[in-house]
Amino acid sequence: MCPGSFDPVTNGHLDIIERAATLFDEVVVAVGINKSKNRLFSPDERIGMLEQATAGLPNVSVAGFTGLLTTFCEERGANAIVKGLRAVSDYEYELQMAQMNASLTRIETVFVPTSPEWSFLASSLVKEVAAFGGDVSGLVPGFVLGPLLEKLASRPAE
Ligand code: PNS
Repeated sequence: MCPGSFDPVTNGHLDIIERAATLFDEVVVAVGINKSKNRLFSPDERIGMLEQATAGLPNVSVAGFTGLLTTFCEERGANAIVKGLRAVSDYEYELQMAQMNASLTRIETVFVPTSPEWSFLASSLVKEVAAFGGDVSGLVPGFVLGPLLEKLASRPAE
């Protein structure tokens, strides 16, 4: 199970998903759809972009989930959660979540180190840079760029 918000999917996410697909027979990209209502893209839009981005990976599927990740893992019979670690700063929170998830159900979390070229990458930063006119074309799949700029342009001013 590769969980996340994916608002929107970045090249860093795809790096982790592609590598998870070489480690496991089957990978489900789990799009959390109830953590926060404050998302740029709707759940269906995020799922659609991930489906497009992973279309070339035959053992990868995409699904939305609500509620606890561990419940979704149980429903799907997943035996591991895969998380990318960009830096030591990610580790503290990810370790806490991994231990909480393991206490809820017997599931392992596998940490995959992010490739150095994406170690600074986060969806939140992509949105901020793009909102101020910065070039994010090397950071997200090409087909994400149009919808990203459209969404940002139609977002109400603060
Ligand atoms: O991309 P994100 O925002 O880091 O993804 C976080 C996500 C969706 C993986 C995490 O918030 C999650 O697992 N949410 C589901 C609710 C849940 O199980 N919470 C308890 C975590 S210990």
